Amino acid sequence: MEELQVDVYMLEEFERGLDPRYPERSRIPARVLGYGEISTVFEIQAEGMEGYAFKRLPIFKDREEIEPYLASYEEYNRVLREEVGISLPAYGHADFVSSSGRPVFFIVQEQLPANSIGNQAIHILPDEEIPILVRMILRELAKVWDFNHGSESLEVAIDGQISNWSIVSFDAVSPHVDEATRFLYMDTSTPLFRIEGEEQLDPELFLRSAPSFLVWLIRLFFLEDVMTRYYDFRLVAIDLIANFYKEQRAELIPRLVETANDFFSQEASHLDIEPISEKDIASYYREDRIIWALYLALRKLDRFLHARLMRREYPYILPGKIKRK
Ligand SMILES: Nc1ncnc2c1ncn2[C@@H]1O[C@H](COP(=O)(O)OP(=O)(O)OP(=O)(O)O)[C@@H](O)[C@H]1O
Ligand SMILES: [Mg+2]
Repeated sequence: MEELQVDVYMLEEFERGLDPRYPERSRIPARVLGYGEISTVFEIQAEGMEGYAFKRLPIFKDREEIEPYLASYEEYNRVLREEVGISLPAYGHADFVSSSGRPVFFIVQEQLPANSIGNQAIHILPDEEIPILVRMILRELAKVWDFNHGSESLEVAIDGQISNWSIVSFDAVSPHVDEATRFLYMDTSTPLFRIEGEEQLDPELFLRSAPSFLVWLIRLFFLEDVMTRYYDFRLVAIDLIANFYKEQRAELIPRLVETANDFFSQEASHLDIEPISEKDIASYYREDRIIWALYLALRKLDRFLHARLMRREYPYILPGKIKRK
């Protein structure tokens, strides 16, 4: 597949005028398309940038660090598409050292319609079709574990959350999903895969955007968990269903637990996944919510310390308040 090409000069210009605190007020304005737990995706409002979505990663110490990341990013995309059989939006990348000396990496993707993205689609789909949606996403995810089972040395991870999938040709006027619905997987910026059991992504990169006063704590208590949970189908499915709390659709969870268990015991019985309970979802969500809310609050504290006390530039674009139940 041809990679998307964007005007790097324009991106450098964007970076020069970027206001990470208020991206919409940047010299070349950006409009936020979505916040994840770690990063922010936006469009750049300039000629020639229409129709693209950008994810900016200012996490690299020097240019040399970008190279292995880029190699993993490309390999991850390739394996998902060509070997696992998961469809991705058209993508590309750009990287450069900014005028202030900061290496930045931009992931570029074809911009997908907002209402086609899982966390928005679940608010307009008929309730009785949501278990079909979840079953279809589990079917996409099962491809990863089917691949892993049949693979000698390569093992791939994936983050299955509802906000990482776009429904192809979604019609917001008469929203509908069925067994023929296809999906695009968007969240490829964390290219986790192992070769001969060895993780290929440098875990230190994960820590870069964390407040410096927290790094030791995360390394000690959380890193191992984050680096391994996406290799575990059961945990990825729990995470997917727990998203319905965050998206204020908790009333659907009992049915979705049934859907997942039905899927695991029938279609995916060869993968030998233990059933999930509603309690698993609730306790997972409780913990997850506390961790991410705390993490975001501490990143804001870190931003404050940078800006007010150290008078240093804080490079990350942080979300405002995330609405959670
Ligand atoms: N190609 C795209 N077109 C339109 N919107 C997008 C696109 N890619 C991402 N988004 C929006 O941005 C949100 C966050 O993107 P994504 O899932 O890739 O990042 P993330 O969850 O922040 O990743 P991480 O937590 O790994 O940093 C998506 O849920 C979606 O709403
Ligand atoms: Mg995401």
